[in-house]
Amino acid sequence: MMDFRKLSPQDKRRLLVDLLTRKGLTDVHSLEHLLRLGRQTSGLKDKSQFDPSKEVFLDPDIRPCSPWDETLEPKAIFLTGATGYMGRFLLFELLKSFPSRVYCLIRASSAIDAKKRIEDMMKSSLIWDPDFQHRIVPIPGNLDRPAFGLPPEKFDFLAREIDWIYHAGATVNFVYPYSALKAPNVDATREIIRLACQYRTKRLHYVSSMAVFDSLGYSGKPALEDLALQHGDSLFIGYVQTKWASDSIISLAGTRGVPISIHRPPFISCHSETGVCNTKDFVARWISGITQLGCVSNINIRMDLVPVDYLCKAIIHLSRSRTSIGKAFHYFLPQPFLSHQLVEWLTGYGYKLSVAPYDEWESGLLRTAALGVDNALHPLLGFLAARVGEENGRPLSIADMYSSERRPRYDGKNVQFELQNASIPCPSSEQLFRTYYDYLIRSGFLKPPGGAAGNPSRAHARPSF
Ligand SMILES: NC(=O)c1ccc[n+]([C@@H]2O[C@H](COP(=O)([O-])OP(=O)(O)OC[C@H]3O[C@@H](n4cnc5c(N)ncnc54)[C@H](OP(=O)(O)O)[C@@H]3O)[C@@H](O)[C@H]2O)c1
Repeated sequence: MMDFRKLSPQDKRRLLVDLLTRKGLTDVHSLEHLLRLGRQTSGLKDKSQFDPSKEVFLDPDIRPCSPWDETLEPKAIFLTGATGYMGRFLLFELLKSFPSRVYCLIRASSAIDAKKRIEDMMKSSLIWDPDFQHRIVPIPGNLDRPAFGLPPEKFDFLAREIDWIYHAGATVNFVYPYSALKAPNVDATREIIRLACQYRTKRLHYVSSMAVFDSLGYSGKPALEDLALQHGDSLFIGYVQTKWASDSIISLAGTRGVPISIHRPPFISCHSETGVCNTKDFVARWISGITQLGCVSNINIRMDLVPVDYLCKAIIHLSRSRTSIGKAFHYFLPQPFLSHQLVEWLTGYGYKLSVAPYDEWESGLLRTAALGVDNALHPLLGFLAARVGEENGRPLSIADMYSSERRPRYDGKNVQFELQNASIPCPSSEQLFRTYYDYLIRSGFLKPPGGAAGNPSRAHARPSF
């Protein structure tokens, strides 16, 4: 039987490429075959596709055509990403906070379909109110395409009609390369700025990400809200590169006079009261994946989370503030926590979790994929197996980069300043975790300790490392 500990990092990556493109692996012998095949592949694509110096630009004619009317309360808002996890909560808060119509750009075959998609998403997240019905205006379109695939007259109509824009839509994928995500994430941002400038100037809120600092260049260094982004050349995840490029393009629009604000959330976690969360996101998968594996890596990752409802309320509050224009905002829990704390909470619930060095943990996860044993982390294998650099001749894993000692020193004083007089409650880390956990169990995504729901032997199959 193959000993996964003996595989070189290159062999693991080659194997991974094949695992990611094949299904139905049932026995270990097929692994040997895959490994042979894998040696002929070129490996996962890396950062070479992204040249930050070529990506941050705006056509010279894209600039505000008139001064922005700051006294205006918005009557019409344009929102992208409304069917997404965060977007639906942002839509909810917008509809509660303003009497406006909200035009939502949605991938759908018709306006009826688009509206149904939004309604279904909001219902499933327990935030639907039939009174919203007449104020949501669905716009079938695609961020992938110039002018979002809209006929010119429709784009023109929006450019005249809209007062404020919230751009939260993006293809969120930690495995695809930059080239696959550039159109919906970067080119679309330029189209959003074009919309913001055409006919009359619109207030523009961009949902960026704290991931723009996910490069070793920022390791241990300050990551300030008021400084231009740096270290784009040492980013290595395609999705993160697109967020870095878009964030920088929005800043550029700000220097041309577009009234922008940039909102940078860390991991967006569950609703602080209902626990409704995105079970496809990293944290939910990580919690479920380590309990399925029965093992966690010894690297202590800093878990920067923000509850989705707190985030959206904070963004809306900031939207109303004149002083938020031209600034970026970093959102955090008051006390961020480390993954070892989370592991303690999980073991407190009765999960049995051993601790292993990252390489060994990764081998165990890879082995479950090869053996066809379910694990919630499998879709993220490409991300987890990445190596982000070297230190003293040792390859650095993705977890090394997220480890508490290598994180940047973030500031969040713009958020603190803007929210000082707002009463937007934010739970403690432990409270948030308990709410998250309850929802994951209730929804069936996470098996209780002992695997009472589902098939325990399979759900908690322990790999032999
Ligand atoms: N999740 C996090 O932890 C996190 C952290 C920091 C920042 N962010 C940022 O927050 C925003 C929302 O993230 P999320 O986690 O809520 O993402 P999500 O659940 O994946 O939602 C993404 C949204 O964007 C839409 N979208 C994607 N590609 C599109 C396209 N080509 N045309 C039109 N719409 C498209 C999706 O529409 P469909 O429903 O049609 O797919 C969906 O509505 C993103 O900008 C993301 O970068 C997220």
